[in-house]
Amino acid sequence: GTFVHSLALADLQVIPSAAVGVAENGTIEFLDQNASSAEASAERHSWPAGSYSVVASDPSSASFFFPGFFDTHIHASQYPNVGLFGKTTLLDWLNSYTFPLESSFSDLKVADNVYSRVIARTLGNGTTTAAYYATVHAAGTNLLADIALKAGQRAFIGRCCMDANSPDYYCDKNLEEAQKATLEVLDHIKKIDPNHDIVSPILTPRFAASCSKELLCWLGKLSTETSLPVQTHISENLLEVELVKSMHPFAASYAGVYDKCGLLHDKTILAHAVHLTDDERLLIAKRGSGVAHCPASNSALTSGETRVKWLLDAGVKVGLGTDVSGGFTPSILHTARQALLVSRHLSMKGDETHKLSIEEVLYLATLGGAEVCGLANKLGNFLPGKKWDAQLITLDCKNSPVDIFPWELEKHEDLVAKWLFNGDDRNVAKVWVDGKLVAGTAFISFQ
Ligand code: GUN
Ligand code: FE
Repeated sequence: GTFVHSLALADLQVIPSAAVGVAENGTIEFLDQNASSAEASAERHSWPAGSYSVVASDPSSASFFFPGFFDTHIHASQYPNVGLFGKTTLLDWLNSYTFPLESSFSDLKVADNVYSRVIARTLGNGTTTAAYYATVHAAGTNLLADIALKAGQRAFIGRCCMDANSPDYYCDKNLEEAQKATLEVLDHIKKIDPNHDIVSPILTPRFAASCSKELLCWLGKLSTETSLPVQTHISENLLEVELVKSMHPFAASYAGVYDKCGLLHDKTILAHAVHLTDDERLLIAKRGSGVAHCPASNSALTSGETRVKWLLDAGVKVGLGTDVSGGFTPSILHTARQALLVSRHLSMKGDETHKLSIEEVLYLATLGGAEVCGLANKLGNFLPGKKWDAQLITLDCKNSPVDIFPWELEKHEDLVAKWLFNGDDRNVAKVWVDGKLVAGTAFISFQ
């Protein structure tokens, strides 16, 4: 069928008649362009007849295969609060909406209910890999890892570390408690997925404003010793930037705090990065860390407008994050739409170079996200050798939010644009992770 994928930032390739061969272990063995049929391609690659099954996109119904989305920053525990932020900004939003909800995850029944639903919802929207924040609770965080593994979603699972400047009712009581709970989660995930093929721990200092220097540096050391990835927030809101400066005067900048503690490296995901200085941008590029761009959240909490092109120009890796529930949508497609609009708002201030194209935001949603997660060698597009993490998009399915007219069927670029601006999970017919069908409107669960 038709395959659409990103080869580079502004290079979205549409292959109208291709065949992709996926081995039983989920690896893409071949990508034939101009394929006359799946059978002819299988024969060309010496696949015996009867040894494979065929899944085709339907040319008469405007459908195409697209790589699975990467959500490089999402708080699984905050899912019940999507859309609830009133007129708050970051720091009062945390105190009035977020910490009370997160503290309720001491109850595993709450954790089970919320985590099952957020994973079903994101998978159904085509998110095949997500970098999750859980809460401070080790047991609940372990449950999130169990649920992701069972559902078949690739997930980075972070127990949230916060031992300073946090409410008494919701925090790590001291450094030792934070360390013990963090190691408990690492042990659990090692047991359920020893090679971290599907679920991996990720070290998660909530942000510099809720961690002691000792905790930050212990996490930095741990990540060096174990090669585990790190996720945190950076420079989201101006009051937060001031708070971090006053709490951690040992560093010259917000990025400098993480750097001095060994937390800035090529497996680090930095969410937001709205108010970085030029020196911080260069430091982040030099360290090889990536940015999770969260445009829906930055608009909702009036945090500001991240200069994505400015980051990319310096060689900083960028992906997209929903940042549920600072962000109101669990959909990366919707987030890509927001990224495009925010870039146009930035350009309205007089600098056209900020504008992101459709090709570019879809790159951020897939291959860009894979780079930020350190997985671009095995995920992000359909090149042979990578894993089959994919979605089958159907635009004129039943109840589709997109109207397709007969003369548009061959105009693939237009179809992609219409999908980006009006599509949703009703258009996601099938979702595969690691070659396995795991979600979509056409997915029937046998469990
Ligand atoms: N900074 C610290 N914690 C959070 C959080 O939960 N969400 C967002 N958006 N920013 C944060
Ligand atoms: Fe966040």
